[in-house]
Amino acid sequence: MGPDRTHLTRYARRVRILVIGSGAREHAIARALSQDSASPELHAAPGNPGIAEIATCHPLSPNTPESIADLAQRLAVDLVVIGPEAPLVQGAVDAVRAHGIACFGPIAAAARLEGSKSFAKEVMAAAGVPTAGCRPAHNATELANALDAIGRPFVVKDDGLAAGKGVVVTNDKAQAQAHGEAVIAKGGFVIVEEYLDGPEISLFCISDGTTVLPLAPAQDFKRAYDGDAGPNTGGMGAYSPLTWAPDDLTEQVMDTIARPTITEMARRGTPFAGVLYCGLALTSRGLRVVEFNARFGDPETQVVLARLRTGLAEVLLAAAQGRLADLPPLQWDPRAAVTVVIAAENYPATPVTGGLISGLASAATPTTYVLQAGTKMDDGGALLSAGGRVLSVVGLGESVETARRQAYEAVAKISLPGSHHRTDIAAGR
Ligand code: AMP
Ligand code: GLY
Repeated sequence: MGPDRTHLTRYARRVRILVIGSGAREHAIARALSQDSASPELHAAPGNPGIAEIATCHPLSPNTPESIADLAQRLAVDLVVIGPEAPLVQGAVDAVRAHGIACFGPIAAAARLEGSKSFAKEVMAAAGVPTAGCRPAHNATELANALDAIGRPFVVKDDGLAAGKGVVVTNDKAQAQAHGEAVIAKGGFVIVEEYLDGPEISLFCISDGTTVLPLAPAQDFKRAYDGDAGPNTGGMGAYSPLTWAPDDLTEQVMDTIARPTITEMARRGTPFAGVLYCGLALTSRGLRVVEFNARFGDPETQVVLARLRTGLAEVLLAAAQGRLADLPPLQWDPRAAVTVVIAAENYPATPVTGGLISGLASAATPTTYVLQAGTKMDDGGALLSAGGRVLSVVGLGESVETARRQAYEAVAKISLPGSHHRTDIAAGR
């Protein structure tokens, strides 16, 4: 796939890559790596049955930075790619690098951009990055005062990692106060934030600590049910490109948000390498950062990597080795991609697991494929549901509308008793 061959072919053998994680995001990463012209030897831990079709999966227990580093060393890999935030915040990249192995992702001190919302706010203030005004609250009185000062709609966020359950947006002051007090009771603290109106956009920016390279913008659908009803989830679907967004959106994010943040992190002596996930609101007053994450987003990665034509192995290796500036411009598939998440019964509350999944083979066509997340294989080789978000079905097409139709035709061929999915992902875009 183009000029990125050069560096990878310098290895005496096929480049060997270990992907950490077990979701559809990691399946999308592994799939993109498997299609790289350098045909890397792929390993994953713990992986899932879908990833196992293209990589050798290894158990990972305990899931600690040290066990990740030990596995990387045992397999003698050239690159480790960390998918989820928890190992990043715990220092997995630091541990892998200490063994002299290249690792894609930020060191713990830089992953704090996701691990602590107040830290992210401090960095944004120092870098002049536009975001919602906020006040921290460490006790009930501070919380009540902050809610009064900032006003409705109330936005209350757990400062720390909370697996998607840390944020409450509500007009109900008692509910806002109760959420904050619950976080504080567990020994944490919250920040109360100004409400940001307008559509949300995700832009992943790859960095090696100095150079910043944007991927294609995407949008995800966070609420469980059609029409943005129901509880927040990890994400029920996504699409890319955003044909309605301003032409200079990426440039604006790069100039006012991504580069200043990367520069500020380097200035502090904790350079951020990996994916800076910019969660943005396009408000009536301009672009604002809703949140930073220190990793690829799920399910946006499923559509962004569906469209990336440049080999992913070289991009991630160049980021991990500080060589992004030498990379030729990224090549993109002009087609659109849409992904629809099939979730287990009762997701996101307490998902029902163990249901039989069928129809996957017929759902795969030249313009559709199925990425796995919460799945497991039983002893008889049957595929069962094993988590909340079970599958992420991807469709490609000349327009968002065609990609969407492709994705939903594939979804219709899949059966999992009790499962649900949104029917309005990317509708009207
Ligand atoms: P976060 O974990 O910070 O991304 O928040 C999760 C979701 O809560 C976001 O995707 C938004 O939909 C919503 N949210 C977070 N912060 C704000 C805000 N300041 N104003 C409005 N909605 C917000
Ligand atoms: N799609 C939201 C996230 O990955 O955090």
